[in-house]
Amino acid sequence: MTSIPPTEKVGAVVPAAGGGERLPGPVAKQFRELGGTPILHRTLWCLAEEGRVGFIALALPAAEVASFEPPAGLPVPVRPVAGGTERQYSVVNGLSALPPEVEWVIVHDGARPLLPPGLVEACLAGAQETGAAIAALPVSDTVKRANEGEFAEATVPRGDLWLAQTPQVARRELLERALALAAAEGFEGTDEAVLLEAAGIRVKLVPGSKFNFKITTPEDLAMAEAYLARAQGGGTAAPPPVGGVL
Ligand code: CTP
Ligand code: MG
Repeated sequence: MTSIPPTEKVGAVVPAAGGGERLPGPVAKQFRELGGTPILHRTLWCLAEEGRVGFIALALPAAEVASFEPPAGLPVPVRPVAGGTERQYSVVNGLSALPPEVEWVIVHDGARPLLPPGLVEACLAGAQETGAAIAALPVSDTVKRANEGEFAEATVPRGDLWLAQTPQVARRELLERALALAAAEGFEGTDEAVLLEAAGIRVKLVPGSKFNFKITTPEDLAMAEAYLARAQGGGTAAPPPVGGVL
């Protein structure tokens, strides 16, 4: 059996400092309500309830840092910090806010509020081999490469293609090294895995969940609402209870 690092050695970084431009509204998407609870609160509950994370560093838009209140009763301490201009820099800021005893880092998007129970643990277990693992899904649709965005130019074999999700887990020293290398080379990536790969670190792919989708567009928000409504109505695909507010 793979051993999981003790909770006090595991910290989460939650990038939640984006502007949510693809989901326009009165507030950035992470502060929008989903089933009556802010998306970001749901995400924090999912992470905290797993019992695998001892500390959460939360990267927020700078204007929100001073006033942010974590959800009442959350069993894990949260330290809000200002994010950066890109997700990667928000992760850097979050990482530097984790206490020194943290040896393993879980990065999980603030905009993924339907994190299923067990996925954090599966990623932590998956990371024990090489020091890094991410949740990901094998591509199930046929993939087309577009010609000037309008016509299908080619069909890309999908057999070895995966869609990256979060959680993305790494040994703290490896993630710090990968981020430092990216900074030195001026490289910006949209997830941690691409930086770890560039640093020569093997990243294990752990099967994620379609329910763990990122709220990116209005359609995503509508799907998440429908999913929660179904769960509340006694549907079978129940998402995790979130701090008793489901
Ligand atoms: N994020 C962040 N700092 C940034 C940009 C993004 O912490 N400078 C966070 C977002 O808040 C989100 C996660 O990274 O939780 C994934 O990013 P994405 O879905 O792209 O969110 P936004 O950048 O906010 O949305 P958009 O790209 O549509 O503007
Ligand atoms: Mg973005």
